[in-house]
Parts: sequence; C-alpha cells; structure tokens
Amino acid sequence: MQSVRERVLALKKQKNAVILAHYYVPDEVQAVADFVGDSFYLAKAARDAAADVILFAGVHFMGESAKILNPARRVLLPDPAADCPMAHMASAEQISRLRKEVSDLAVACYINSTAKLKALSDVCVTSSNAVNIVRALPEKNILFIPDENLGAFVAAAVPEKKFYFSGGHCPVHAFFPAERVARLRQAYPGAPVLSHPECGAAVLALSDFVGSTAEIIAFAERSEGKSFIVCTESGVLFQLRRRCPGKTFIDAGMVCADMKKITLEKVLRTLEEGSGEVILDEEEAKGAYRPLARMLALG
Ligand code: 13P
Ligand code: SF4
Repeated sequence: MQSVRERVLALKKQKNAVILAHYYVPDEVQAVADFVGDSFYLAKAARDAAADVILFAGVHFMGESAKILNPARRVLLPDPAADCPMAHMASAEQISRLRKEVSDLAVACYINSTAKLKALSDVCVTSSNAVNIVRALPEKNILFIPDENLGAFVAAAVPEKKFYFSGGHCPVHAFFPAERVARLRQAYPGAPVLSHPECGAAVLALSDFVGSTAEIIAFAERSEGKSFIVCTESGVLFQLRRRCPGKTFIDAGMVCADMKKITLEKVLRTLEEGSGEVILDEEEAKGAYRPLARMLALG
C-alpha cells in the first residue's frame, strides 16, 4: 500500500499541481513541496507557476496572494481555516483617517494581511524587502500596517521617514519572553541569536542577526559559526538542519498553531477532492494586485 507521501507525489503529477510551502509548515509537508521559501520567494513562485493547480501549504493570506498574482490558476488551501491572526490587525477606517490627516503619505502593507487591506494600500512588503521598498518610496510619511514590530525595525533602518502604525503584531513572535532568549544565550555562549523582525524589541536587542526566514537560513549557511539560537517559528529548523548538516541549531520554541494545521493528510485530501479553492471578490483582487505587483517590481 502506498504511503500518504507517495500518494501526494503521485496525485501532484496526475493533477498537474505544484506545491508551494512556507518554512513554518510541518516538516513532512515541506518535504513534498516543489518550492519552499519565505513569503517573498513564494509570492514570486506563485506568480510564475505554470501548473493548472497551485496547492499553497500556508496560511490563508498566502493563498489569497497567490490567486491575486496568478488568477488563471486554481489555488487550493489544505486548510482554509488556517489563518494568520495578524492579517486582520488593521482597519479600513484607520487607513482612511490617516490618509485624510497626513499629507505625503504612503501605506506600506505587510504581505501578512487580508486582500481587503492590501487593496487599500500603496505597496506590499515582506520582511525580506520591507527596508529597501520603504526607503525607495517617494513619500515622506509611511503608515506601516499591520505589524508594528516589523514596522519599528524598518523605521530604525529608514530614519529619514516618519512612521505611523496600526498596532498589529504576530502573537507567536511578539510575546516571546526575552528572558528565555537571555537564558539560551547563557546556556550556549558564543552561539549567535537569529531572530525574525516580528519579535519584540527586547528579543531583537538580544539578537545578533535579524531577518526574514530565508535570510536567517542564508546567514546560517554562510556563517563560520557552529551553533545558532533560532528565534522564529520552529518549522525553519527543518531547512536549517537539511542545508547545514554540520551545524547545531537551538530552537527557542516558537510554534505557529495555524501553520501547523497544514498536515500531510490535509494536503492529500485537498489534491484528491480539489477542495479549499481560493475564490476572491473580483474588485478586491484587482485592488490588491496593484500593491503586490509594485512590491515584485521594487523588490
Ligand atoms: P517570512 O516572510 O520571513 O517567511 O515570514 C512569514 C511569516 O509569517 C513570519 O511570521
Ligand atoms: Fe502569522 Fe505569526 Fe503565524 Fe507568521 S508566525 S503566520 S505572522 S501568526
């Protein structure tokens, strides 16, 4: 009898499907994917996918962005209820109020957001391109939504601009206790702390490197160090261990419950049934295409 993995691989071919997976989904799902990466890489892979079906192993906004960038494909989500809570942490009212109050304003929208919020924004960003994109915007004032921690990280790197925030955060990264990072530093002296910019200021202050998931992996690959403390969702350790076999990675212990909803069994059922299709409001999708395409052009 075929294993779940073998059935997924066979069905993928049969249905002319491509599997895109974020670094945070379970290891066995990453292992069957055609493309595994951070949000920026996966947005580009979705835009360029030529297969009939894109199965997006990730949270809801990722599937939405894939459909917006490549509307001719069927985009399937293994669990449409797997959602990033931060994606909803800004409102249309906040945006329109600030647009009225502040002149020379651009709305920079983290890709971890709903299509509705993207459609109200001027440009999208991910954690790997936010600094460069925001720096390149002609406007002096920036409303950065929804992640205030990533926003603060960008603001520190782009001091020539004035920033406004919507008050959103990633519940997995933002509240991770800095004391735990401090204890790990003591337990593993000399091991650099690698953190995602969604972490709070106290954790970032204890970090040696701050970057997107792909940037954290790239840092570990090129570093001459032998051990690293990893302060982002633990799914990333699968890739770190795979790509850096001689190195040791210490997991700080962040788990995104929504990313972990994407099991291999659900991937199989989605391929079998063609379920979980992303269907978008046409106007919203058109509106959200513009800032996403601008991100891809600038990034
Ligand atoms: P990356 O773009 O760095 O992969 O981040 C995605 C995300 O959801 C972080 O919590
Ligand atoms: Fe959203 Fe945080 Fe999960 Fe990333 S780790 S998908 S930002 S809840």
